[in-house]
Amino acid sequence: MPLSVVILAAGKGTRMRSKLPKVLHPIAGRSMLEHVIHSAEQLHPEQFVVVAGHGIDQVRQQLSETNVTIVEQAQQLGTGHAVDQALPVIEDNHQVLVLYGDVPLIETSTLRQLLATQPESGIGLLTVKLNNPTGYGRIIRDSADSITAIVEQKDATEEQLKVNEVNTGILCAQAKSLKAWLSNIDNNNAQGEYYLTDCIAMAAQGAGVKACHPLSEIEVEGVNSRVQLASLERRYQAAKAEQLLQQGVTLIDPARLDIRGELNCASDVLIDVNVIIEGRVNIESGAVIGANVILKDCVVGADSQVKPNTMIEQAQIGKACSVGPFARIRPGTILEDEAFIGNFVEVKKTTLGRGSKASHLTYLGDADVGQGVNIGAGVITCNYDGANKYKTVIEDGAFIGSDCQLVAPVNVGKNATVGAGTTVTKDVQAEELCISRTPQKHISGWQRPVKKVKEEQ
Ligand code: UD1
Ligand code: CA
Repeated sequence: MPLSVVILAAGKGTRMRSKLPKVLHPIAGRSMLEHVIHSAEQLHPEQFVVVAGHGIDQVRQQLSETNVTIVEQAQQLGTGHAVDQALPVIEDNHQVLVLYGDVPLIETSTLRQLLATQPESGIGLLTVKLNNPTGYGRIIRDSADSITAIVEQKDATEEQLKVNEVNTGILCAQAKSLKAWLSNIDNNNAQGEYYLTDCIAMAAQGAGVKACHPLSEIEVEGVNSRVQLASLERRYQAAKAEQLLQQGVTLIDPARLDIRGELNCASDVLIDVNVIIEGRVNIESGAVIGANVILKDCVVGADSQVKPNTMIEQAQIGKACSVGPFARIRPGTILEDEAFIGNFVEVKKTTLGRGSKASHLTYLGDADVGQGVNIGAGVITCNYDGANKYKTVIEDGAFIGSDCQLVAPVNVGKNATVGAGTTVTKDVQAEELCISRTPQKHISGWQRPVKKVKEEQ
């Protein structure tokens, strides 16, 4: 059956106390809504429909680059009414999976299982047993253990309230069946809402309702306040950290690592405290990531050391390199194996060849640096003339003395030497020494200026 995914996201989220719609609040670096879409995407649905209401313009903006269909639910009359807003854009023969924009950590594997659980024209329902079921809809089963209904907390009897199997809200059914059931529900209940859950009793009398369960409770946990959001974030991070430990990664403190994206880590990597991972990051075996390092969309090669307080973004660090402390590696940087970047060095759109070094206080931008090059302290590639950017090429074995400026476009040849304090404006040929310092003068008996005495007024 072709699949349509419907994500309910119209609620106000009053308890967030925010101008931002609840579903756009981030968890692990991505909005809750993006998490839900990301999990469902891997099911390859034919169609995504987001039901939005409060903050619909912001939701529309965030989804503008996707092919998600947004339908408006101007008034929030209940979950049944919300799903009903999406159905007109869904073909009768589609299987419909209902998800929630504020239940961000649902796993693809659980959803796959749910889709497989659904009886052909009945309902597949995701339920969970909770120690404290307060607030949730209770799952009512008959003596044969078949599901017969869901009763909301506010409509439940004393007896029903004792049930600890609850409705996560997540379910699937054929579009055609949903259309039929939803046209028959009313709002004669304690909250005066059209309940999606009223479909359960109708399905139970026909094709049936089959339940399955998530692997972990955090998958089905909803967020209504920033307190719950922060708590879910911590538990998500704890789960990620535990996975890494099990894969053979050393975390100096599993509670002080933040993964806001996807981290691929080989075994025997060591990660010190307060490291932040963003986007897609790959760390190869034996690498050591120091304290307070931020890695974003990058690769750190085997046995490399990233020392404390370093930022690396959209870059490739080869094997056995050393970077930092306090280095900033910006987009388009490639460090070949055994390259060395020391403290207070900024590198952008630059390749540093094998074994080359820039140890202190340097800016390398738009540069192509060969192998075995030594770049002294305080060297700057002047890559920008205020209007355009130009390239600096430093060939293999060159030595750039301290405090030099290389005014691009400029080329320093193989094994050339540039003396300290030189401003290079013309190409330096291979094996040459280039130096632009003025000869040192000595003036003996030099009198320094003295301070003028102020006249009294
Ligand atoms: C719902 C279920 C309950 C389940 C619980 C799990 C119903 C009637 N009850 O209750 O059985 O245990 O979820 O969390 O379905 N929404 C809309 N439009 C609406 C109403 C809701 O988009 O008109 C969205 C909300 O933004 C929210 C979600 O649907 O994200 C759930 O709605 P809410 O009213 O909070 O349902 P619950 O009372 O939690
Ligand atoms: Ca809720």
